[in-house]
Amino acid sequence: MDQETIIGKAKDYAGELLGGNCGGHDLQHTLRVYDNALAIAETEPAADLFIISVAALLHDVDDYKLFNTTDYQNARTFLKDNFVPEGLTQRIIETIDSVSFSKNRDKRPATIEGQIVQDADRLDALGAIGIARTFAFGGEHHRPMEQTFRHFDEKLLLLKDIMNTKAAKTIAQKRHKFMKNYLRELNQEIKASELPR
Ligand code: ADP
Ligand code: NI
Repeated sequence: MDQETIIGKAKDYAGELLGGNCGGHDLQHTLRVYDNALAIAETEPAADLFIISVAALLHDVDDYKLFNTTDYQNARTFLKDNFVPEGLTQRIIETIDSVSFSKNRDKRPATIEGQIVQDADRLDALGAIGIARTFAFGGEHHRPMEQTFRHFDEKLLLLKDIMNTKAAKTIAQKRHKFMKNYLRELNQEIKASELPR
């Protein structure tokens, strides 16, 4: 099977597994990560576009918050069913494995493909879309807004300094600035509402 066909099928497979979700891990998140990854890859000529594409599209199909699989079983099943050779399968799984924030907090992925897909996923937690996903997550988990505000300091505002690639750093800086402006505005409005009438 040619690589374009496999990429198309990976999109369909992600749609089947993630299509019904709302908020943080819907299909649209996966498709944005895929787009981000390809955009970053344009500036990294050494990167393998097939590995990046398939890893980006399958990066959430074994997310522990959504599925009970171990050892990336959903991704592995897809790759096996589509006759992806063992060597490529290993590199794709290794790339998916390097995406997770909690697992890899301080670790820079060893391969350029891992670095790119990790950056692509982190970019989707920043900027206007990052703000939207944050509140969607808070609502989904029935958390008070004040608790959700803290997520900006605890995680999102740290991301711009741990991007791997130059291209992602540039985009992250822009999105960071937008979030800071948003938080400034938010703080003013919250304070204003506490003033005596
Ligand atoms: P991914 O699996 O795509 O790396 P996460 O599962 O960590 O991302 O988070 C999905 C989305 O939900 C992100 O936009 C993230 O910022 C947001 N999120 C994660 N944890 C929290 C939290 N405690 N409060 C608010 N938003 C959160
Ligand atoms: Ni993700």
